[in-house]
Amino acid sequence: MIVQLPGLIDIHVHLREPGATHKEDFLTGSSAAIAGGFTYILDMPNNPIPTFSIEALEQKVSLSKEKARCDIGFHYGTDGNNLDTFPQAWNDSAVFGLKIYCNETTGKYVVTEEELLDRIFAAWRSLKPILVHAEGNMLPKMLFLARKHQRRIHVCHVATAEDVQIIQKEKAIYDQITCGVCPHHLFLTTDDESRLSGFFRVKPPIGNQDDQDALWEGIHDGTIDIVESDHAPHTKEEKTVAEPAYGMPGLETTLGLLLRAVHDKRLPMKIVLALLYDRPKRIFSVPDQKDTYVTCDPDEPYRIGEDGYFTKCQWSPFDGWEAYGKVRRVVFRGATIYQDGRFLI
Ligand code: NCD
Ligand code: ZN
Ligand code: ZN
Repeated sequence: MIVQLPGLIDIHVHLREPGATHKEDFLTGSSAAIAGGFTYILDMPNNPIPTFSIEALEQKVSLSKEKARCDIGFHYGTDGNNLDTFPQAWNDSAVFGLKIYCNETTGKYVVTEEELLDRIFAAWRSLKPILVHAEGNMLPKMLFLARKHQRRIHVCHVATAEDVQIIQKEKAIYDQITCGVCPHHLFLTTDDESRLSGFFRVKPPIGNQDDQDALWEGIHDGTIDIVESDHAPHTKEEKTVAEPAYGMPGLETTLGLLLRAVHDKRLPMKIVLALLYDRPKRIFSVPDQKDTYVTCDPDEPYRIGEDGYFTKCQWSPFDGWEAYGKVRRVVFRGATIYQDGRFLI
């Protein structure tokens, strides 16, 4: 049966424009979003020229307005040298949060120095969340700073059983914490490494079965608030060298994988909508999108990649997997813009 879903929201994508448009750009990235059922996406700041200045932000806003097929908002970023620009950033309606990288990943904008992190948390005097890439011992440090400064914090891509436990404990004493999990951490384990080779490489690294089980448990007990794709496209060449780039695409596969979990009775449909719409909308204050919706048949199986991909990188770690509920139609502000694998605009 064809059902109608709201236009979904992905709060964690890397569309690579400007600076790395050989991997993705606003047109290909937003096309992948629409084909995957997402009509509002939030783009991360770790471009070659990072979104650490108002000029860089304005450039992204204008390029995306020119080229994108869906709505795109932005997370501002920091290396600790742009604190004076924070008020202008949080007052900008295109900005939805502040991203801090505490561990090595694509872009190398890592901040680990505690005194500097403290100043960053103090300076972001906004209700817009601080998003953190915080693995290992950086996670407790960031949760501590959020509570100390009474800031809202969103922990990106939770990937280990230990981190789920840390977040669950901290949520009990401070209620301004939210977190997200990625489809690749929910559906892959270290058992997939030899098959996927460089395409398996992502930060945080994919864990073992116990980690994966804890993430599913966290979804069911409410510790995990949302699913974010962390759509991080890199070319096939960049994934097959000696030191492959970190990251994998996800915009076109997230919904189909979660609907497969619904089909397998591992997840109620209501939770899928909470993970991909209600909670991202509430946590990041994403504006309403009038007359915008997506249709699909959640009982209909398909093979991931059978019609190709819109992402410029042209691959998926889930290629050939069975998924459910391929997006049939996307209506964006009253107009059908996508139907049965084709864009009408
Ligand atoms: C992301 C990227 O490529 O921009 N890579 C990744 O492995 N997740 C950066 C990030 O989200 O850490
Ligand atoms: Zn990250
Ligand atoms: Zn990311």
